[in-house]
Amino acid sequence: MTTAKPATSLTLDDIKLGDLELWMRPDREGIFAKLRDEAPVSFHAEPTFEPPEGEELMFTVPEGKGFWAVTRFDDVMAVSRDPETFHSAPSVNIGDIPPEIAEWLGSMINMDAPKHTKMRLIVNRGFTPRQVARIEDSVRKEARDIVDRVAPLGECDFVSEIAAALPLQIICDMLGIPREDCRRIFELTNVILGVGDPEYVSSAQDLMGAGMELFQYGLALAEDRLANPRDDITTALMQAEVEDEDGRHRLSTSELGSFFLLLVVAGNETTRNAISHGMLALTQHPDQRKIWMDDFDRVSPTAVEEIVRWASPVIHFRRTAQRDTTIGHEQIAEGDKVVMFYNSANRDERKFADPYSFDVRREPNEHVGFGAGGPHFCLGANLARREIKVMFEELLHRLPDIHISGDPDMLQSAFIHGIKRMPCRFTPVGE
Ligand code: HEM
Repeated sequence: MTTAKPATSLTLDDIKLGDLELWMRPDREGIFAKLRDEAPVSFHAEPTFEPPEGEELMFTVPEGKGFWAVTRFDDVMAVSRDPETFHSAPSVNIGDIPPEIAEWLGSMINMDAPKHTKMRLIVNRGFTPRQVARIEDSVRKEARDIVDRVAPLGECDFVSEIAAALPLQIICDMLGIPREDCRRIFELTNVILGVGDPEYVSSAQDLMGAGMELFQYGLALAEDRLANPRDDITTALMQAEVEDEDGRHRLSTSELGSFFLLLVVAGNETTRNAISHGMLALTQHPDQRKIWMDDFDRVSPTAVEEIVRWASPVIHFRRTAQRDTTIGHEQIAEGDKVVMFYNSANRDERKFADPYSFDVRREPNEHVGFGAGGPHFCLGANLARREIKVMFEELLHRLPDIHISGDPDMLQSAFIHGIKRMPCRFTPVGE
């Protein structure tokens, strides 16, 4: 059965993607369906960034000149795979923070070749088959521990107790961070990705403070591993060396600090939202849950991809045009901001059959949840796939009637498709 295409009562002129209020509307899917059909590449004013009265900022965000919203699958692919025309520097976020701050906060995600290429080569050394195999063992162990902890309770907050606990712990294990430091790191990533949601960021000062604390933590970790090498990824990253025509390169401790910031932010919030949206979708679509449960191992590869497509945890990333060009029928000028809306590309009826159906056996499923290809494609995609699969394997087998029992409390954000909290229930086990 085909799921009906969503609609909106807004006219094209009323659709202002830079307006944060719009992102809390229930007809978000209808809005993007209308844009794809009637204005696939459209221009929008940027969100304004007003510091609260009396607050001093470390930097100012100038009034933005607006951005192009790219909403169709094919156009998102074309932008993502043309890094010469569409740069990631100065920033993949819409607002113009100063380039040196963007590089400090975002590390290689805000860089272009040749700098990005070098950094990615070094960082890849931390993701060798041996390192990844070790992480995979720790994913199983952590997922089991999480289910052990909640099993006797019968109900809990799905996001904080289950979905968020796994990716955070994995990043900590990976980098060799002691368990007692993990909670603070988690709070800090919430501040960074909750920009726009009043619950998390009360001021820009908090944002910079959180970034600084994470960076300092990463810096200290790097210095420690230089002095006392261990069998962890931080040590592997500090020892990795790449060579090109300019000589040999290693990561400096401050580069590691920024990469640490990127890893904890990119690895935590994305995966936890995929798991949360996945549980919600399985509750709302019991037929799909049954299909997966009846043949778990065989269905898992497609189910995991469908969860990432369905969730689209990262809503957008920006690029900046390096020359005059066109996307679709629109003229893009050098210096223009071009924003790829992955959420929209993942629902494009031109690419996906029946895109509004949650189908755990969907095939093909060439979604852009991890990016649309090109040099920045998600470094942690395989790890995230593994985390999602193992988490659901443990949950659905050991708590077979687990379900979401109340409305999700959504993050107010145009950047992260996030769920802040969401109650779940199940028959208690092992009281
Ligand atoms: C479901 C979970 C995840 C989603 C939806 C996701 C999504 C993304 C997206 C959309 C990008 C940008 C791709 C591009 O511009 O082409 C990205 C980049 C990145 N991701 Fe992920 N990610 C996830 C999990 C992870 C995990 C677990 C890690 C690390 C352990 C990670 C680390 C990174 C890094 C380091 C980059 C930057 C790569 C670069 O600039 O070269 N991600 N991710």
